[in-house]
Amino acid sequence: MVAAAAVILAVSVTSLPACSWPADRPVAAEVPALTVVATVPASGAEGVPTDAVVELGFDAWPESPVPGGVVRMTAGVVDVGVQLEVDLVGRKLRVTPARYGEQPPRLLDTQTGYTVVVAPALRATGGATLAAPFILKFRTGDAPAGRATRPTPRFGEVYALVLATACRDCHADSALDLSTEDAAFAALAGQPTRVVAGHSAGSGLLRKLVGTPDTGGAAHLPLSDAQLALVRDWIDAGARR
Ligand code: HEC
Repeated sequence: MVAAAAVILAVSVTSLPACSWPADRPVAAEVPALTVVATVPASGAEGVPTDAVVELGFDAWPESPVPGGVVRMTAGVVDVGVQLEVDLVGRKLRVTPARYGEQPPRLLDTQTGYTVVVAPALRATGGATLAAPFILKFRTGDAPAGRATRPTPRFGEVYALVLATACRDCHADSALDLSTEDAAFAALAGQPTRVVAGHSAGSGLLRKLVGTPDTGGAAHLPLSDAQLALVRDWIDAGARR
């Protein structure tokens, strides 16, 4: 029975067209070192809202989870506990102050200088690490700006806007059955190797779609950032129906 299933799987997979990016799409090159390419707030910024989420943008996908102690935030000499979230679509690491895992994350203190230090031990999915510690300094202002809440897409939207349009032709009767909304939900949300609810960066599905090196490199069909963000936000919001 198991052997028969394996044969069917092998046949259905090999008979499908190759699952790779068209040649005219840029493919992320192997990077010798991980580099910070952008930050929010900008380095040296003043008057930063107290509900700001610090974002560190990289030239490769930061691996998740980030080992403890790799990212530290301090206010003067006080170590501020941080909560870290990897955004594979934006190649970002989001840093929010959260003492003892408080939810929702705490606000930053007003009129306070903060320093965020990322240790070279931070790894990208392909194995690259930072060449040197990265240091970001900024200063808060007097008030929050009103945090933008992340959307919570329904699975119906993910199915209609991504799976039915970009995937169903190949994954209709294969080991990964995306032929109907019900089948797709069971094949994705019911399979921890594909979807880890609340943790898009650790979900095989999103990793495959953005093309992290562990999934064979940039080796799936190109989706728009909006489509990738929809899949990401659905998983991060709990991968619910
Ligand atoms: C051109 C045909 C084709 C299209 C279109 C396609 N795939 Fe695939 N997909 C494959 C093949 C072939 C494999 C197995 C080989 C591999 O991993 O690349 C696969 C593998 C996968 C895997 C990893 C294996 C698994 O069972 O978990 C996932 C996840 C996946 N596809 C999701 C999708 C999603 C989501 C879409 C739509 C955005 C999509 N695919 C579009 C052909 C396709």
